[in-house]
Amino acid sequence: MTVIGAFAPGRVNLIGEHTDYNLGFALPIALELGTTVTFTPDGSAAITAVSDSETASSVIPLTTAPGGVTGWGAYVAGCVWVLGEAGIAVPGGRLEVSSDVPVGAGLSSSAALECAVLLALTSAADGPVPDRIALAKLAQRAENHYVGAPTGLLDQLASLCAEPDAALLVDFQSLDLTTVPADFGDCYRLLVIDSRAPHRHADGEYAARRSVCAAAAAELGLDSLRDAAPDDWRRLVDPVQAARARHVITENARVVDAADALRASDYARFGALMNASHISMRDDFAITTDQIDLIACTAAAMGAIGARMTGGGFGGSVIALASAEAAERIIADLPTAVVDARFNEPTVRAVRPGAGAHLL
Ligand code: GLA
Repeated sequence: MTVIGAFAPGRVNLIGEHTDYNLGFALPIALELGTTVTFTPDGSAAITAVSDSETASSVIPLTTAPGGVTGWGAYVAGCVWVLGEAGIAVPGGRLEVSSDVPVGAGLSSSAALECAVLLALTSAADGPVPDRIALAKLAQRAENHYVGAPTGLLDQLASLCAEPDAALLVDFQSLDLTTVPADFGDCYRLLVIDSRAPHRHADGEYAARRSVCAAAAAELGLDSLRDAAPDDWRRLVDPVQAARARHVITENARVVDAADALRASDYARFGALMNASHISMRDDFAITTDQIDLIACTAAAMGAIGARMTGGGFGGSVIALASAEAAERIIADLPTAVVDARFNEPTVRAVRPGAGAHLL
């Protein structure tokens, strides 16, 4: 039988956090780091998934339903389940997974796994492969309803639709995707600084932010905060709702500005928007941690022109845009500075916008 290989990258969101489920804007890139799956159909009634980073394999009946498989295999099982629900019959077989996306770093290792699995399994199924936006929605459905994480569509769209040397401007209301060239020129480096801090209460806090945003929109008589006017947050009596709404409203505006700055190669402007985004996540959306704030602040003190947390928050990674010279300083000195402040030692890596998911 034919062996099918598929690769899907992790992602870094350049700007636009917690805007996806508010139907706003975000500007992610795909990473060159990603997940590769190799699927060998064998005509059996189950998929046996093995991973190079897990000791236990996961046996997934083709008739699996939410709750059936737990642990890392739930991401694969969720994909099998959504495809079944969508009427796409996938064969049984052996699925081998390998990945170099660090888990828990806020770089979407889970979306990379889902997207690679969906690409491989839909290619093995009879019939046409769904388009990329449809695949992203299937991956999100797997994560929301099978794995049980109430995340938006950002990670999956970035993994499936991003292009090399470009960022992807996503409008989550229309689902219009616009490619924005983003090679950062010869002089600048994009660094990803993984805090390596354990996520605490992350799922509960993420869901809590989501419901406060929904409540704020309802209070304003809107379907989503995307439709809020710049000053609408002032109409909210509840101070927490007002602060959360202000983050979403201002963050949407920053994303659009940042895409323009990138098109104009105006990195100083882009960096300033990154800094403003971090402050908004820290003060209005309350999703940063002391260590994350210290990393962003230290990167800026070492010469980064922009530094902000990326991803869902409560840990994960900070991204920094810096001149080649400042980047070298940050790579050499930032980890020690963070350890001296009695936090976990972060890892720093320079990244470039990589290719979206593809068959191998
Ligand atoms: C996580 C979620 C995304 C998005 C970001 C925050 O990565 O999976 O859907 O909400 O957080 O921007």
